[in-house]
Amino acid sequence: MNNINIEDKELVKLAIEARNKSYSPYSKFKVGAALLTSEGNIYTGCNIESSSFSPTICAERTALAKAVSSGDKNFVKIAIIGSADEYTYPCGVCRQFLREFANDMEIIIAKNENEFKKTSLTKLLPNSFGPEDLQ
Ligand code: THU
Repeated sequence: MNNINIEDKELVKLAIEARNKSYSPYSKFKVGAALLTSEGNIYTGCNIESSSFSPTICAERTALAKAVSSGDKNFVKIAIIGSADEYTYPCGVCRQFLREFANDMEIIIAKNENEFKKTSLTKLLPNSFGPEDLQ
């Protein structure tokens, strides 16, 4: 199914569903993400923690890895939801990893399926370093 015209609210709902899969026994902070590509595909992800801590991966990078390893790397937008009362913004590592594949993209930050706001990667990661800098 081609989801290119999916409503932001629907993408948020998919992020909420993905959050249910979170493996976060240490922080107990569940995060979900849903990433839309220009092909109209959606890749979801949750955070996955490790007892050794450093292998922990964020929800955003889980979704990104699923997309790129499926050969789909033109990112349009990503919806992100944490478990706090406040908005959860993507961490610095995730911002940089998204930047690897997108000069800019929409970022939807949600509290729940009815409360979300939009920002962009260039706003969250200004003056970024990217693949072009190594040309
Ligand atoms: N986490 C994410 O999944 N995404 C973010 O952008 C922020 C942090 C996860 C990592 C860890 O499992 C938990 O939230 C607490 O840091």
